[in-house]
Amino acid sequence: MFEVDSRLRYFKPHTSSVEKTFADEISDSLGRKRNSRFISPKFFYDDAGSELFEKICSTPEYYPTRTETAILEDVGGELGSILHGSSSGSGAWTPGDRGVRLVELGSGSSVKTRIILDVLFGVQEDVEYFPIDISDILAQSSEQLLADYPGLRITGIIDTYDGGLEFLQSYDRGRNLVIFLGSSYGNMSPADGTNFLQRVRSSMKPGDMFLIGLDMVKDERVLESAYNDCAGVTSRFNLNVLSRINSELGANFDLGNFEHRATYNTDKQRIEMYLESVCEQTVVISKSGLELQLERGELIHTENSYKYGRSQAADLLASAGFCHERTWTDPDEYFALLLASVPEPDGRA
Ligand code: TRP
Repeated sequence: MFEVDSRLRYFKPHTSSVEKTFADEISDSLGRKRNSRFISPKFFYDDAGSELFEKICSTPEYYPTRTETAILEDVGGELGSILHGSSSGSGAWTPGDRGVRLVELGSGSSVKTRIILDVLFGVQEDVEYFPIDISDILAQSSEQLLADYPGLRITGIIDTYDGGLEFLQSYDRGRNLVIFLGSSYGNMSPADGTNFLQRVRSSMKPGDMFLIGLDMVKDERVLESAYNDCAGVTSRFNLNVLSRINSELGANFDLGNFEHRATYNTDKQRIEMYLESVCEQTVVISKSGLELQLERGELIHTENSYKYGRSQAADLLASAGFCHERTWTDPDEYFALLLASVPEPDGRA
């Protein structure tokens, strides 16, 4: 644990994890046979990638960020009442409690975090904010957050979601609102997602609540244009991973020889993102020990983004053992926020 000051501290519970290196992962994932090559989306987010991602969120075509923000603004009051028990809802918390801690999985831009902090500060004087992320996402935003919210304490957990949740579970008996926004859940395969929700659920206790943002199935033109913005920001974001491999792994990808592709797969209910090799070419990735022969038209898979139907979304929560409390959407039902509670062990709500 290291403490920056009385209102800001960090925990790094698992420092000695035996993660594979970037070079090894790329060697495995690009060294596969044709048409099964991929690059893990976690490598998108170097400094340039994170900056491009922020830009994607404000392109006119990318509706999820702005829609989720609007829903949050709309339902903030209701969420506050549910959390503090003045509205019916099974995991309701009675007044007199010490208050609710905000646990955020993967804190991104702090706009949405702030809306929820406003909700909590509307009903309690102090809030402890627990962002869990593998990188120090708070480096830039913590100072401003602490200045704007005098009753705020930040405990940053620098770890994987699993590691962070395990830490939280043994931290204390305080009540938690765990949030997982931005349709990040959609980037997991359904099998990984189900496992993940079960782990989130098992790290929580009765009285805790979970808020998740999911992108909805809709007209495929709307979906595809969200991932193919006219200004080409998503394309630059996708291609940036190749620049990163060039500079960190001593590779010689020529970015001009690749094109961004994002298409909706109706059967699988997901946007699939690829980098297409537009000519026959050889790429050397020296630190991964690879010489890659790519054909014209060959695709390297970089990400999936799953979309959900309304009842499908509620079912996901129920099958992970949550009690589904609310689904909030925008009028077009483009995006949904679902709130769930944790039932008492004996089955009473
Ligand atoms: N999870 C969000 C989504 O799938 C954000 C996101 C992740 C994203 N990777 C992306 C958006 C790549 C655009 C391109 O929409």
